[in-house]
Amino acid sequence: TITCMDAMEVLDSRGNPTVRVFVGLDNGIRVSASVPSGASTGENEAVELRDGDAGRYGGKGVLKAVSNVLDILAPEIVGQDCARQAEIDRMMISLDGTPNKGKLGANAILGVSMAVARAAAASAGLPLYAYLGGPGAVRVPMPMLNILNGGKHADNSVDFQEFMIVPLGAPCFAEALRYAAETFHTLKKILKKKGYATNVGDEGGFAPDLKSNDEACEVILEAVSAAGYQSGKDIAIALDPAASSFYGDGAYDLSKSGQGRKTSAEMTKFYAGWLDKFPIVSIEDGLAEDDWQGFREHTAALGGRTQIVGDDIFVTNTEFIRRGIREKSANSVLIKLNQIGTVTETIEAIRLCHAAGWSYVLSHRSGETEDTFLADFAVAMGGGQLKTGSACRSERVAKYNRLLEIERELGASARFGFEYSRRG
Ligand code: PGA
Ligand code: ZN
Repeated sequence: TITCMDAMEVLDSRGNPTVRVFVGLDNGIRVSASVPSGASTGENEAVELRDGDAGRYGGKGVLKAVSNVLDILAPEIVGQDCARQAEIDRMMISLDGTPNKGKLGANAILGVSMAVARAAAASAGLPLYAYLGGPGAVRVPMPMLNILNGGKHADNSVDFQEFMIVPLGAPCFAEALRYAAETFHTLKKILKKKGYATNVGDEGGFAPDLKSNDEACEVILEAVSAAGYQSGKDIAIALDPAASSFYGDGAYDLSKSGQGRKTSAEMTKFYAGWLDKFPIVSIEDGLAEDDWQGFREHTAALGGRTQIVGDDIFVTNTEFIRRGIREKSANSVLIKLNQIGTVTETIEAIRLCHAAGWSYVLSHRSGETEDTFLADFAVAMGGGQLKTGSACRSERVAKYNRLLEIERELGASARFGFEYSRRG
């Protein structure tokens, strides 16, 4: 039984306020959970409630969300059984009463939802992944590590937001992380030698002022082979252009990197050219969130060759994922807890992917905390894919380190990764 609930404002990895919720049980268990925050957010994401008081944190304070936990959610939830996750989540959704959690804030609601799950796991004497996923939760995800940052996550000349490496030839998670970290360090040396800056962006990837988007893939592949790996076999590339962030007035604007403006069809052609040149296993948000027609053509053209992941277009919302399945807008969904705002609804989104035979990729946000909930959640959900940043910055590495622990704990029963070959 939940006997107490508390909440406070803490900072995320960008130094912006976010919500931390504490839950206590009658058996003495005390846990907490912290909510992440995005920068290239989808328009239809659940609402992240910010105070808007310019005198505090430039308006980004979350004291209203904190008091919504204390004054509105806690009185209803204290006294409930923490194992009744779905009922507690549903109760919060109805207390909020809006379609996008705009009244209480998805940051308030998700903080409670995550803390309740964690309390229930502790109460059951189980690690979070085993509590949420059951005895079958033995698959440690293949990581996608974002080692080169652009777009809204960096101040550089690269239009595309994320260039990730996927160590798909590795036999287990620990080896995958080693392949990736070695490549990351080799990339740093190569960038330095070429005279580029090696400071990192929001997700821990380098953020050099490259001459073109192409150069990003080229320099990564150079690092892969210099680190002693075979590109395409040991390590492949995954992209998240986050195209909504450079779409406007009916065109995709790649002028930051000097490639001009492109139509939806020209973008798809551009990616097709990249698939010919580079070992790309996954493209997320190659087009903008409201370009549904474009996404359909994009998936028809490229979906047999690579995984097509929808992030901003679906925002982890079953309504949009259902439309996407109907219209064949993609073949995979990016899953972010705070886009929808409860653990229960996130699991429902994943069930929908399962039913359609779509893959799904669990994901962090560009603003993160030291909370490792996501690592356990990814193992619990079993889809075998996770992106949670580069091989540096502790808010990213914390998740990878937690996965190292889980893989070790699972021992011989651990399974690893995702079979990209199924998708082209
Ligand atoms: P965000 O970026 O957290 O800034 O939205 C991550 C992504 O686009 O996948
Ligand atoms: Zn994305």
